[in-house]
Amino acid sequence: MEKIVALCKRRGFIFQSSEIYGGLASTYDYGHYGVLLKNNVKSAWWRTVIQERDDMVALDAAILMHPKVWEASGHLAGFTDPLVQCLGKCKRRWRADHLEPDENGQLRCPECGGELGEAREFNLMFETFMGPVRDDASRIFLRPETAQGIFVNFKNVLQFARKKPPFGIAQIGKAFRNEITPGNFIFRTREFEQMEIEFFVPPADAPQWHQRWMEDRLRWYTDLGIRSDHLHLREHGPDELSHYSAATSDIEYLFPMGWSELEGIANRTDFDLKAHSKASGEDLSYFDPQTEQRYVPYVIEPSAGADRATLAFMVDAYDEEEVAGRKRTVLKLHPRLAPVKVAVLPLVSRDGMPEKARALYKELRELMPAEFDEGGSIGKRYRRQDEIGTPWGVTIDGQTMEDDTVTLRDRDSLDQIRVSISEIGDELLKRLVGDWRSPKLG
Ligand code: GAP
Repeated sequence: MEKIVALCKRRGFIFQSSEIYGGLASTYDYGHYGVLLKNNVKSAWWRTVIQERDDMVALDAAILMHPKVWEASGHLAGFTDPLVQCLGKCKRRWRADHLEPDENGQLRCPECGGELGEAREFNLMFETFMGPVRDDASRIFLRPETAQGIFVNFKNVLQFARKKPPFGIAQIGKAFRNEITPGNFIFRTREFEQMEIEFFVPPADAPQWHQRWMEDRLRWYTDLGIRSDHLHLREHGPDELSHYSAATSDIEYLFPMGWSELEGIANRTDFDLKAHSKASGEDLSYFDPQTEQRYVPYVIEPSAGADRATLAFMVDAYDEEEVAGRKRTVLKLHPRLAPVKVAVLPLVSRDGMPEKARALYKELRELMPAEFDEGGSIGKRYRRQDEIGTPWGVTIDGQTMEDDTVTLRDRDSLDQIRVSISEIGDELLKRLVGDWRSPKLG
């Protein structure tokens, strides 16, 4: 993890938030390449769950919602973690359910070994106030999950999207949780982005849709390059289930700190729609004209974290190799996720090469994210592109000036071939589109 954090800082992917003031604990800012990478993760998700399906629609609900939403959803009463405080030297606070008992079967402070106080339930929702008056009536919450924005819009979508169960609503957006023990870089933060689907189905079909979504979501990660032996499904035990869930399985990834949740896939039953029907007085049931039955749909919820997925893609892509006696650090990101697809590099800064390279770069950036780099030795520039995960490098050299061919270098195989300058755009597009399609075409 330290290597990933260092690379993220060195290459401008991710910075500590408010760093010049000493940083704000466990909050991070995305720099240029980090923004591009996370955007690619999110658009790969949109592509798979919206563009490539005809049973899903998109939504972008507000972060701020009516406070009654959180009462009805059970978050006000139940979205809590058990908090214990060290009574010894360090006075640190811990999540009681994350602590391992010592050899005597007792829970002690992991920092200083001190005794721990009584556990108390701590609500994870951030509060704020709406309007000029700060009282109970103006108290609202920053959403701790994007899901509720989908449930409260169920009727709107049903009416206007011309869909009927089984169908789903997908949303990407920020969520906030006042986590007791955030950490592991962007794995657990207090402000993060979720990519959530609420998929509405006839109740009897819920178990089979749950199974299908587990398979579909696992395949999404492997299609985008994560090694399948670094992923597995783990079913929640009865004591772990959220207050709304009949069954949940997590897709876990082998992060540097061990197997940890990447995405949760829950059968949320009809808990939320029923709760909001009751609290709002709106009927959120569905009448099926074919069977002439009215029912409240069950919900299958694949819920992923955009930041956590970005971290997993980086961890899985990170590699250190020895090439010609020198160490090379490389992010072997799937081309679809790579922040920059092609770097155009003049071999030297003279003899007309920079001008020719810049002209080619301007053409290629119309087709895909491209970068022009003329600073430093060619080896140094390749290493920089390897570290940000650029899959292809195009070099303008002496031969280019004679016969209008360029060198095309592949990040992973390090193969170099010569391609005519007039064909390089098509060749890169072919590779990029081919890479998008190849996992599905086998
Ligand atoms: N609507 C269901 C829900 O929110 P969750 O398991 O609490 O379920 C879903 O969260 C996903 O959101 C997690 O699998 C994780 O990827 C991401 N996530 C949750 N808490 C997070 C945090 N504090 N920091 C970063 N990502 C988080």
